[in-house]
Amino acid sequence: MALGLSIESAKQFLGSDFEQYRQTLNTALHTDEPFLETINNYVLGSRGKEIRPVLSLLTSRCCGSLSFEGYCVAAATEMLHTATLMHDDVADGASFRRGALSVAAMFSVPAAVLTGDFWLARSLNVINTNCGREIIRNFDLAIQTMSESELLQLDKAGSLDTTEKDYLKIIYGKTAALFVASLRSAAIVSGASEAAVAAVEAYAKNLGLAFQIRDDILDYSPGLDTGKTAGADLRERKITLPLICALDNYPEKAPEVISKIGMIESVLGQKTTEKEELVIAEVTDFVLNGGGLEGATQKLQSYTDAAIQAISALPASQARSMLEGFAEFAGTRGR
Ligand code: IPE
Ligand code: IPE
Ligand code: MG
Ligand code: MG
Ligand code: MG
Repeated sequence: MALGLSIESAKQFLGSDFEQYRQTLNTALHTDEPFLETINNYVLGSRGKEIRPVLSLLTSRCCGSLSFEGYCVAAATEMLHTATLMHDDVADGASFRRGALSVAAMFSVPAAVLTGDFWLARSLNVINTNCGREIIRNFDLAIQTMSESELLQLDKAGSLDTTEKDYLKIIYGKTAALFVASLRSAAIVSGASEAAVAAVEAYAKNLGLAFQIRDDILDYSPGLDTGKTAGADLRERKITLPLICALDNYPEKAPEVISKIGMIESVLGQKTTEKEELVIAEVTDFVLNGGGLEGATQKLQSYTDAAIQAISALPASQARSMLEGFAEFAGTRGR
């Protein structure tokens, strides 16, 4: 399923519901502060795929009917996600995002941190003002989990002893937890039964894991137009699934590979030395020639299959078919 086709067709299917979500988001970001308004317009000028609000609206439709609360859940999700991206590009020293300069690179690091804070606060304001306690709790938990797992990831970039179990914990926290909060909430506000909420939660968890594994595979795939700089993870000493799979295939090489990664010392955003570039190229070759991408893709497939299976008991509808299609998309997307 081609990216343009799938997300665009879902947005068309959602029609005025998608427009209402957009309007809720735009209204929620209003500010009288001119500098902040300039940055907001910059961010809104190169929107991402908006896959999370699309999934959220489809989930509400799949489980019942959409109301203003459903638009608020979708808007808060995208705002919170975008806030984490502004912060993520500071944490990862990344200059490119969505095919343009990141907020940190375009304006400044403090501007990116503070604008991210604003978007985070306003996303919570949308939820607190318009949704019930259970929805507030869902988002609250996601934010805590995201921060904790980013710190675990940072810690592991120091110790370089990430196991597959650690990796799954990290990607659940930094990515899948928001999918879970959003889609659980979308199901609840549309009046879903407890069983349907549980099904949606399992779908969201597996889809979120697959989505991040695909992101980590794309990071080892230079030459694709992802709108971000490839090879960033290794430069940040992040041990992700493609590398873990290659190490599983060639355990005898592990000490040498890990000691090479340990030679990468440049601080975020700094220019790497020639020696570091050599080491990065060698480890990348090890991943590509050691079956890392194939291994990671195989594991990813088990999560997309589980996501599709999870919602099989929900009543058949066009919305459910689209959710199934997005599970496939999460595992194959090129951007
Ligand atoms: C990027 O998410 C961060 C990850 C969790 C991998 P997206 O790929 O959804 O980013 P945008 O919003 O479309 O730019
Ligand atoms: C996704 O991890 C983290 C977030 C949820 C913000 P990455 O650091 O790999 O995300 P990208 O690749 O920069 O979008
Ligand atoms: Mg990043
Ligand atoms: Mg990151
Ligand atoms: Mg990434």
